[in-house]
Amino acid sequence: MKNTPIDKVLVDNTIRSLGIQDFEKATIREVKSVAASVEKESGVEFIKLEMGIPGLPASEVGVKAQIEALKNGIAHTYPDIQGYPELKKQASRFVKAFIGIDIMPECCVPVCGSMQGTFAAFLTCSQCDPKKDTVLFIDPGFPVQKMQLQVMGVKYETFDVYDFRGDKLAQKLEGYLSKGNICAIVYSNPNNPSWICFNDDELRIIGQLATKYDTIIMEDLAYFAMDFRKQLSVPFEPPYQATVARYTDNYMLFISGSKAFSYAGERIGVTCISNKLFHRHYDNLGARYEGLSFGYVFSTRMLYALSSGTSHSAQYAMAGMFKAACDGEYDFRKDISIYGERAHKLKKIFTDHGFYIVYDKDLSEPIADGFYFTVGYPGMTGGQLAHELMYYGVSAICLVTTGSCQNGLRVCTSFIEDRQLKDLERRMAIFEENNAV
Ligand SMILES: Cc1ncc(COP(=O)(O)O)c(C=O)c1O
Repeated sequence: MKNTPIDKVLVDNTIRSLGIQDFEKATIREVKSVAASVEKESGVEFIKLEMGIPGLPASEVGVKAQIEALKNGIAHTYPDIQGYPELKKQASRFVKAFIGIDIMPECCVPVCGSMQGTFAAFLTCSQCDPKKDTVLFIDPGFPVQKMQLQVMGVKYETFDVYDFRGDKLAQKLEGYLSKGNICAIVYSNPNNPSWICFNDDELRIIGQLATKYDTIIMEDLAYFAMDFRKQLSVPFEPPYQATVARYTDNYMLFISGSKAFSYAGERIGVTCISNKLFHRHYDNLGARYEGLSFGYVFSTRMLYALSSGTSHSAQYAMAGMFKAACDGEYDFRKDISIYGERAHKLKKIFTDHGFYIVYDKDLSEPIADGFYFTVGYPGMTGGQLAHELMYYGVSAICLVTTGSCQNGLRVCTSFIEDRQLKDLERRMAIFEENNAV
């Protein structure tokens, strides 16, 4: 047995002193605290794979547009609750240019990040029909969305899609939908944490069932156009970002500025609601909100109650980024393709040393390289693996915390630097030697 890069006793004592009972269930914050404390004590730099935040500079196009708006005095006025008209127009163009679908500017509403968009959407969807009081997650997923439901007291159900790809998805979804209590279905595509991407057959299944059971699909496009297997960079030309919007009118799309434009700090995104759903009247919403349609309840009631709109100058940034992307002047994917390149290198290091990719395929095709991927090690639970890797100065979160039933960890590519790859390689070689299968 070779010495581990970090003293095991130090790691174990730190975990104990932070009161973490079960490493399998440790949150990002807890994992980060252990890593920070052990790093300080040991002097060994951690390779931090738990973060889910962008590691690149913010889009210059956005920063320039925002500064200009601020200089022109935009900060002193309240933003329109429906959004800055130019942003609504450019969002509608962006959706056409990169998703290939038509959504009117009226139905594209700025939000303080997709987080706020989903919060307002959960409120709206769960109030449409008293019989439909439950949200369904196609997991694994983004844990904070479940916390949002916990905060507002709305029920949810969830299943791990691992064993239900392709045709199997239909029966699984129908099992939930046929009970009549599901108001909305949520998933991200590409998926945080597994980076699986639903293909068109799967999206057709989801869309058709959404129409059949009158359920709203909340399609979270936080990692917009980051399926790097496809050439999604050319505006107004296929291939486009995959979407359920081609197969149903019951949809809301959440487009975030955070990852595609590295604009997380300004809390900006747009929620694009299908023209039909935006203008649809639900008896329950009408009775509670002066006869307003779905889209206007979402904006003039939920968003207004939450934050009275979205930061004015950030809307100018987003409008500028959308416009430049649509005009073909700004290839936003070029800036973020580094995540895919890093994933490729990291996957090789892990798989060269006995690890396997947990969510490895989109049906017959290997998953794309991107912002996240998942790894497992034979014979270890996620908790054991995460704990063990701490001895090697590598921190990551367990898949269990994301609604997955698989043993393994989520690896985020956003913070690793090229100079750390050699170190990782060396440490994983020792790990493999010490954990022979
Ligand atoms: C799947 C998913 N949805 C939403 C978000 C949050 O997006 P925003 O920063 O726009 O609120 C994230 C951020 O990590 C995410 O992974």
